[in-house]
Amino acid sequence: MASKAYAVLEQEAGLSDALAGRDLCSIADLSSAEVAAILELGHDVKANPQNYRHALDAKQMVMFFEKSSLRTRVTFETAINTLGGSAIFVDQTQSPLGERESLADMARNLERWVSVMVLRTYAHETITEMAQYASIPVINALSDVEHPCQALADFLTLEQRFGTVKGLKFTYVGDGNNVCHSLMLTAAQLGAHCTVGTPKNYAPKADIVAQARAIANVTGSNITVISDPVAAVTGADAIYTDVCTSMGFEHEATKRAPIFKPYQVNEALMAHAAPHAVFMHCLPAHRNAEVTDAVLDGPQSVVFDQAENRMHAQKALLLMLLGGAKLAK
Ligand code: CP
Ligand code: NVA
Repeated sequence: MASKAYAVLEQEAGLSDALAGRDLCSIADLSSAEVAAILELGHDVKANPQNYRHALDAKQMVMFFEKSSLRTRVTFETAINTLGGSAIFVDQTQSPLGERESLADMARNLERWVSVMVLRTYAHETITEMAQYASIPVINALSDVEHPCQALADFLTLEQRFGTVKGLKFTYVGDGNNVCHSLMLTAAQLGAHCTVGTPKNYAPKADIVAQARAIANVTGSNITVISDPVAAVTGADAIYTDVCTSMGFEHEATKRAPIFKPYQVNEALMAHAAPHAVFMHCLPAHRNAEVTDAVLDGPQSVVFDQAENRMHAQKALLLMLLGGAKLAK
């Protein structure tokens, strides 16, 4: 039986059963209660790792990555290893998934050998198609549209810092990219207000904004997209940024640099936030581009807590999707 906080939650909502066998392609695949339950379990796993040591004994996780990774790869591997399972990493940086063999044929092989698939891809559709074909859970470890595992860890970090995130003023400044999309959706799911400040042609995708607003209408939060960085951060409890040029967009770096300059998170911009505000970044950072050293290394920065929480949040996610939450001591 899981330790108290999670056991109570599980009893109330039966969410562990509801999530077993599911995919995580987008944060929007989850209900608000399911996002909250994963984070609740994440807190418990972080506080009591020994209770989950054998919860996923002998489970096998395969990871196919078309892009580089430090945090996502290592935290997924440490997560499954410390839950009793093991990981197989396949470097796909030299050949995109689906090139050598169809995604459907890959799925029909893999589901006979392993319990879960973790994919980092260029095209989001590679992940949704694999999820459609495979009978085992498929987890998005970053695509060109979303980075849901990052957002789960980030809101775990905010819950630890602020107790609850309901009504929290969360601001993202910079490129309206994959990380921004997952953060908007997660904020909406958990009832946090989310303001995004981006240059005009770099706003988040309209369909994701609409999805986040539809969720926020139910949870009682506001989703705002503006272009003024100072207005975006004024009074915020948390300021988040990410690189201006994501993986796959490196060829646009020179063009983007001047456009994103006003969105740099520096001490002057941080001064407009609430005095207790935290600074967040998914990492890796391009130091002194989207954020200055003074902010990244300063007292308000929680970036390494976020990085640590990748592991705890993903342990919770794996436990939920693989039905191991109930096997914990
Ligand atoms: N934040 C994040 O996903 O880092 P990696 O690209 O190193 O995995
Ligand atoms: N937006 C960045 C996140 C890296 C973790 C990218 O996609 O490259």
